[in-house]
Amino acid sequence: MTDFTAMLVETHYWRVDPINPDQDVITAAARILRQGGLVAFPTETVYGLGANALDSRAVKRIFIAKGRPADNPLIVHVSDLEQAAAITAGLPPLAVKLAKAFWPGPLTLVLPKADAVPGEVTAGLDTVAVRMPDHRVALALIRAAGLPVAAPSANVSGRPSPTTGEHVRQDLEGRVEVILDAGPAPHGLESTILDLTTDVPVVLRPGGVTREALTRAIGTDVAVAGRGETERPRAPGMKYRHYAPRGELYLVEGDRRGVPRRIAELAAELKSAGHRVAVLCSAETARLLPCDRVYVMGLRDDPARVGARLYQLLRRCDEDGVTAIVAEGVEPVGVGEAVMNRLRKAAGKVITVGDDR
Ligand code: TXA
Ligand code: MG
Repeated sequence: MTDFTAMLVETHYWRVDPINPDQDVITAAARILRQGGLVAFPTETVYGLGANALDSRAVKRIFIAKGRPADNPLIVHVSDLEQAAAITAGLPPLAVKLAKAFWPGPLTLVLPKADAVPGEVTAGLDTVAVRMPDHRVALALIRAAGLPVAAPSANVSGRPSPTTGEHVRQDLEGRVEVILDAGPAPHGLESTILDLTTDVPVVLRPGGVTREALTRAIGTDVAVAGRGETERPRAPGMKYRHYAPRGELYLVEGDRRGVPRRIAELAAELKSAGHRVAVLCSAETARLLPCDRVYVMGLRDDPARVGARLYQLLRRCDEDGVTAIVAEGVEPVGVGEAVMNRLRKAAGKVITVGDDR
């Protein structure tokens, strides 16, 4: 048996058009997947680190390449409903309804698993997480391989998820056979995870498909994990401190008028304490800040844009040797719920500014 822990592989870095992927490149990458290799590929959310979901040896390599704890299960990516049905114990009507409404797209459904799915994929759980990504390269790859593809985000565990091929290369060069680079991932934040194995569906991780959109599609409210509405454990991965940049992150949220002032004060304090400081904030707040290294995430009322830039900016802070990051919160509604979920997980300290009018 090959000892993959000790093995450095040659990484092929292939650029591919996001709209019209070159079929020869897709075919070559699909062959590597079928042979048990690792292929990092773009999705509409973030880049994934793919392996044949039915091959436990290939799946184990994902955990080694990422340094991922073995108790954190993987999402399986499919290109059609039949594939989803084959890896689950059949699709219940609600799953079909949601798949028709949101697939391909950033919604992952947790369902009872089929026996064919190895325990390595699900970390021993009797459920499996499944989604159909809304990206032509991902769909073409899964179709060409003719396999369900297990894929966590293609970062080293604990680092921000990669939103470009270059981010993947920084983390996984020498650990994967192929990186498919199709440019920036459009959404920039991971999918919404919805557990359908409980009486009331539970959002385990907020993402691009909002709670409001799910409620509309289902016709009843969904529960949200970690809000006291459910006794079920959250997605196992959510217990780890995630999405972490190297610098300490201070999240400043609360009163709209007070936040910019608090950010300016905090940035100044950290700077005089010797820190290399970066501020991640809205365009509106940036206008009020005198300091350098102010990175604009987007307009205050455009959380989708903020989400699309978040991980990229966290990585830029690392590249710039930033030791303290001051980030402005967004309103936790719509996609803003996902943005705040990720910011809170990345933050070492959360500062809530009261309404002091
Ligand atoms: O957008 C995404 O979902 C990206 C792209 C690549 O598809 N993938 C992604 O995978 O974010 P990952 O591994 O970084 O996050 C998967 C999350 C983890 O928190 C894991 O615990 C949870 O999904 N998960 C996987 N299987 C599960 C299951 N059977 N039950 C509950 N949670 C599960
Ligand atoms: Mg991840």
